[in-house]
Amino acid sequence: MAITHPSFGTLADDRIIIFDTTLRDGEQSPGFSMNLEEKLRMAEALHELGADVLEAGFAIASPGDFESVQSIAKRFSKDGPVIASLSRANTADIMASAEATKPAARPRIHIVLATSDLHMRVKLRMTREEVLERITQSVTLARNHAADVEWSAEDGSRSDLEFLCRCVEAAIKAGATTINIPDTVGYSLPADMHEIFSTLINKVPGAEKAIFSTHNHNDLGLAVANTLAAIQAGARQVECTINGIGERAGNASLEEVAMAVRTRHDALHAKTGITTPRILKTSRLLATITGFDVQPNKAIVGRNAFAHESGIHQDGVLKDASTYEIMTPESVGWSTNSIILGKHSGRAAFRDRLKTLGYEVGDNQLNDAFKRFKELADRKKVVYDEDIAALVDDEVVRGNDRIRLTGLNVSTGMGTKPMATIALEVDGDRVDGMATGDGAVDATFNALRNAFPHEVNLKLYAVQSITGGTDAQARVTVRMEENGKLVDGQGSDTDTIVASARAYVHALNKLLVKRERTEPPVVLRA
Ligand code: KIV
Ligand code: ZN
Repeated sequence: MAITHPSFGTLADDRIIIFDTTLRDGEQSPGFSMNLEEKLRMAEALHELGADVLEAGFAIASPGDFESVQSIAKRFSKDGPVIASLSRANTADIMASAEATKPAARPRIHIVLATSDLHMRVKLRMTREEVLERITQSVTLARNHAADVEWSAEDGSRSDLEFLCRCVEAAIKAGATTINIPDTVGYSLPADMHEIFSTLINKVPGAEKAIFSTHNHNDLGLAVANTLAAIQAGARQVECTINGIGERAGNASLEEVAMAVRTRHDALHAKTGITTPRILKTSRLLATITGFDVQPNKAIVGRNAFAHESGIHQDGVLKDASTYEIMTPESVGWSTNSIILGKHSGRAAFRDRLKTLGYEVGDNQLNDAFKRFKELADRKKVVYDEDIAALVDDEVVRGNDRIRLTGLNVSTGMGTKPMATIALEVDGDRVDGMATGDGAVDATFNALRNAFPHEVNLKLYAVQSITGGTDAQARVTVRMEENGKLVDGQGSDTDTIVASARAYVHALNKLLVKRERTEPPVVLRA
């Protein structure tokens, strides 16, 4: 039955609302934190992808979270996504969410309260009756500040179903317009999920007034399966994240849900507003920002997702791709032509290729990226789409960096102490550093500390190859920590040492942004 919602008007029966929580549930997992600029960039990309709701953060969690939610709320007009902020069921949280989302053209206050006996007894120390009362109070308060209010039953899938029905009824009565039932600990099986949603949608008085939403964690690898089971039982909002990032084993992956809905329309009878050819670009942007690539065999966006290795499969695909492909690579943003530009290619061809890959860059970014592309093409026989994407992501992500790597020289060999000299531009001024180390990377990082003195703990150093071959680009991730603040930096280059220096400088820049948000601006001088 068609439903009328304060943010979406009359919704067609088969329309699935995509509620993206990459910036909240995704961002709260260890190592995946993003700074404000990165969140804004991700929010733009998610809007271009077609996400209907962006959960921009948890406004009360910190001044930084509040600022992120507010900045994202200011960014979009009525044509943009609904902007949500998470709140526990108390006045301070709800008021923080109301305030932070106020600038949004379409704000949403999202309230969560646990409903399982275990959570109520151990965590909340509340009785069932107290929880019911709190639902009514908190949803009523939120509705005084926003027309669009979502209520979530934390640990809903492990809650007593009779009691859950009473909670949902109370939330709808108090004015909740979306009811979300999370599988918070990733425990449910698809059949459980189907039963929970069928029961709630068919039995709760007033259920027809709200949109039912599903939110699944992947502890048993069932997040997407549970999401699809909920859709089959009538859920019309799906909570998910790009690349499936999120607490512990993550959330349902947006790209997998969107493509399942599209590919299996015959069984699911539903559609999303996702522009699927933008999926790969959005996935890569997140990987670049966070420093975590997806595994090669990840559905939809993994490097091998459309690669056919066995002779029998290759033969079939050459005759007719549908023999072994249930969706086309182009439908999610992969290009069929993986060998692309070379050192003789011009700026126009480069710009054109970027456009095909989904990048719209300004003239300055284009110039910088083109310069790096030419350098790369000189060193590398074949430049693949993945190389170009890594290179442009580097430039786009680094647009506002205060420290830039301008030169690096390393001498190393058997029986000699590795030595590095480095040149940086710090707020436009050149500074140099020199140091030895236990290896080429160690010497390079020491030279960086010599050029720009600072004290941080190096927590992670990881190298990955972007494409195959000995001339492949390396992507390096560096994680550093200062006073409990963690940042990740990425760098790519055909030379692993240069990629390492780029990653280190990137992390350092992120740390400076983090410092500036909690302290007065630092004067950058070596
Ligand atoms: O997993 C969960 O229960 C959540 C809620 C806050 C919706 O993330
Ligand atoms: Zn969650």
